[in-house]
Amino acid sequence: MINLNFKYKNLIENLTHAFSFKPDIALILGSGLGDFIKGVDVAKSVSTSSLPGYPPSTIAGHEGKIHHAEYKGKKLLIFQGRIHFYEGYHISECILPVFISHKLGAGKLLLTNAAGGINPYFSPGDLMLTSSFNGISIKKELTDLLGVSSLEGKNNLYDFPSENFNDIIRKAALQVKTGLKEGVYWYTKGPSYETPSEVKMISRYGGDAVGMSTVHEAVYAGYLGMQTAAISCITNYAAGITDKKLNHAEVTETANLVKGKFESLVKKIIESL
Ligand code: HPA
Repeated sequence: MINLNFKYKNLIENLTHAFSFKPDIALILGSGLGDFIKGVDVAKSVSTSSLPGYPPSTIAGHEGKIHHAEYKGKKLLIFQGRIHFYEGYHISECILPVFISHKLGAGKLLLTNAAGGINPYFSPGDLMLTSSFNGISIKKELTDLLGVSSLEGKNNLYDFPSENFNDIIRKAALQVKTGLKEGVYWYTKGPSYETPSEVKMISRYGGDAVGMSTVHEAVYAGYLGMQTAAISCITNYAAGITDKKLNHAEVTETANLVKGKFESLVKKIIESL
């Protein structure tokens, strides 16, 4: 089992020196959703490359910046870019944004991501609130990360999504009149998008959307006792749902098209906290 306090001691010292505030909420912005930062007041930004031990971001659309921002009196810790398993990083690196959020004292975490739509009622451009997830393919790594769990940790483990937080999100969606789908987010490790056959299996086992992030962050945040919720931007039909071959450009293009409604929903959520 890895001692994260030891592994990230210097990094946390650097960051707490740069950021002396207690966030009301931490947000991780998924692929193509990084522009959200333009709509809030940024007090201070730190480049992750300046933090000792922070894994470099390798993907287009993932900036690698951490911001202290404010919106309507709420203090926000915003990660513009995340760390994925398919980039070759270890699980102890992939959960780093959650570890940092917890260290800085954030009690709430909103995870956002781009995902492929599987549910036949979903179309590219829809937003989906996560009702549950399937992370069986990453269970082993999570066990390695958490080790033998304390009783409290064990009880927290599947405290995701926070029903209280999901209710706040549903109400916020009604207030800004944004249609919000709900469904099961199915985690795949990547590194590639799925095959049509894999998507067929996921569909039969109850997955509504598929993506390569978020689940390990959600499990770890729940374990730490943070109230956590996740919103997916459905950026494409998952492989085999249509004849079109997927690519990352399509993912960022769709995310770009929905950024207005994504921004108004997330702002309303922050305002409602
Ligand atoms: N599959 C996996 N991850 C994704 C997808 C997808 O179809 N779209 C955006 N992220």
